[in-house]
Amino acid sequence: MQPNNAQITVQGKTIELPIRKGTIGPDIIDIASLYKKTGTFTYDPGFTSTASCESRITYIDGNQGILLYCGYPIDDLAEHGDFLETCYLLLFGSLPNRANKKEFDHLVQQHHMVDEQFSRFFQGFRRDSHPMAVMVACLGAMSAFYHDSIDITDPQQRNIASIRLIAKIPTLAAMAYKYSISQPFIYPLNTLHYTENFLRMCFAVPCETYSINPIIARAIDRIFILHADHEQNASTSTVRLAGSSGANPFACIAAGVACLWGPAHGGANEACLKMLEEIGSVQRIPEFINRAKNKKDPFRLMGFGHRVYKNYDPRAKIMQKTCHEVLKELDLKDDPLLKIAVELEDIALHDEYFIEKKLYPNVDFYSGITLKALGFPTSMFTVLFALARSVGWVAQWKEMIEDPAQKIGRPRQLYTGPSKRNYIQIQKRP
Ligand code: CMC
Repeated sequence: MQPNNAQITVQGKTIELPIRKGTIGPDIIDIASLYKKTGTFTYDPGFTSTASCESRITYIDGNQGILLYCGYPIDDLAEHGDFLETCYLLLFGSLPNRANKKEFDHLVQQHHMVDEQFSRFFQGFRRDSHPMAVMVACLGAMSAFYHDSIDITDPQQRNIASIRLIAKIPTLAAMAYKYSISQPFIYPLNTLHYTENFLRMCFAVPCETYSINPIIARAIDRIFILHADHEQNASTSTVRLAGSSGANPFACIAAGVACLWGPAHGGANEACLKMLEEIGSVQRIPEFINRAKNKKDPFRLMGFGHRVYKNYDPRAKIMQKTCHEVLKELDLKDDPLLKIAVELEDIALHDEYFIEKKLYPNVDFYSGITLKALGFPTSMFTVLFALARSVGWVAQWKEMIEDPAQKIGRPRQLYTGPSKRNYIQIQKRP
């Protein structure tokens, strides 16, 4: 056997498959030739043992609780950088120097405004529509509004579509919020920093001056950095799969937003806050812990557990710190939900069930409390996640499109339905 090969025997036939090494992380057995050589497929529902692509963007070590964007630890980026710096890093693979940063910030700022027809597009929605439903529609509609940047074979159009997505999603997210509360849309102000601009578009009203609290703006910026990318999660894989057919980037990101909405993914922060409200008091925590442990009860502790992290989610630590900072700044240190969260976390971290299954708090555990304190309704939580993740989706989509080896994603299946049978005309069926 060749060194660096894996050997597999299928129905008496032994073949060798190459083992590929990444920069860090587990080796990969390249099974691309398996079907050709043996006539068999692999079966891995939920992709628990399958790498779907090669990527240079994000690395996660779930056992050690490490998250790197292009090699840089998430803690450093969240502590010292800003969201647009992270966007630049994810898109171009290196940190910008001062001139690059200035130019990039300016470029994004120039694209915040959306086509004026969007304000009429919004009028078609009920005011009580879930803002994630509105976001899915708005992202899909972007391909109609920005038709001049959907030719994916043109690198310039790909770049402009990427910048448009990163710049306009905050505007659309703020519009979705304003529409839901029947307030006038606030136009972006290009002199403001990305996050300040977003806060102003969400919370300013035309009849009052709006002043930005720098601690709050910093907290939101950090939340955006934490959510910017997370390698091949469900929504990113959705974006890649949609993009593999050659679909335009706006349509692909719309697919990503739709996937993110699910409660097992981006919807978890909303679900977590609802759970904390349902628990209602510290005394009721044991009841809910017992429910989470009961196999017959579908209830799960929201904000706990992760497919990849079998240790404390590194984003959760930063989120926890940010949450405390925000509540202190807003004089909400005694928030009853925070008390329940702190106690719940402590009890779960010392419970045999959670220890044995390696269930730790994830990023969503504290983000809901923080976003609520900042004044966002629960229905907006996943929208903020989508806003931040849009850069990760765009970076991963671009990486895939620019890979010369890229081909349409087309998984196979284990068919367990009926084998061929004869069609019986309806008159003759029993
Ligand atoms: N509460 C109670 N038990 C749990 C939980 C939980 N939150 N999460 C997993 N388990 C149990 C599960 O019942 C299973 O037990 P058993 O082995 O006895 O059948 C075991 O732990 C493994 O769970 P799994 O569902 O096979 O693990 P998974 O990797 O498929 O699921 C997850 C990961 C995140 C969907 C899951 O942990 C979960 O539903 N958590 C709550 C929702 C949540 O907080 N999601 C946000 C994820 S972080 C944000 C993001 O990146 O999108």
